[in-house]
Amino acid sequence: VVLVFSADPVRSATRFGERGANIYALQDATIAAAYAQLAVVATGLASTWVGDFDEQRVKELLELDADLVPVSLLSVGYPAETAELSPRRHLDEMVSWR
Ligand SMILES: Cc1cc2nc3c(=O)[nH]c(=O)nc-3n(C[C@H](O)[C@H](O)[C@H](O)COP(=O)(O)O)c2cc1C
Repeated sequence: VVLVFSADPVRSATRFGERGANIYALQDATIAAAYAQLAVVATGLASTWVGDFDEQRVKELLELDADLVPVSLLSVGYPAETAELSPRRHLDEMVSWR
């Protein structure tokens, strides 16, 4: 199963203007995908977040509404293995304290 999460900039713009179209629409789609990943794990399944895809091809295949912008795909399935933890950037690299 592959779940497709799309931004809807036109809908967001009707309430929040340019910031809604440019930012909130993306936030809505990505937070939905992130929470879906948690729900997937809670059921014992696993997922891979895919951001590298041909946006136009996905729109055509799914006959998506022209206003929608697919931003992430989640491929969902039963995990064959438990992945090793990968290295993480140190907090000091990413956080600036004021
Ligand atoms: C924004 C974003 C885009 C990603 N795009 C892809 C992708 O196109 N193809 C893919 O195989 N995995 C993609 N991944 C999944 C990552 O490669 C990786 O499997 C996942 O984030 C787990 O990473 P970790 O090893 O750092 O925990 C993406 C992850 C993120 C957060």
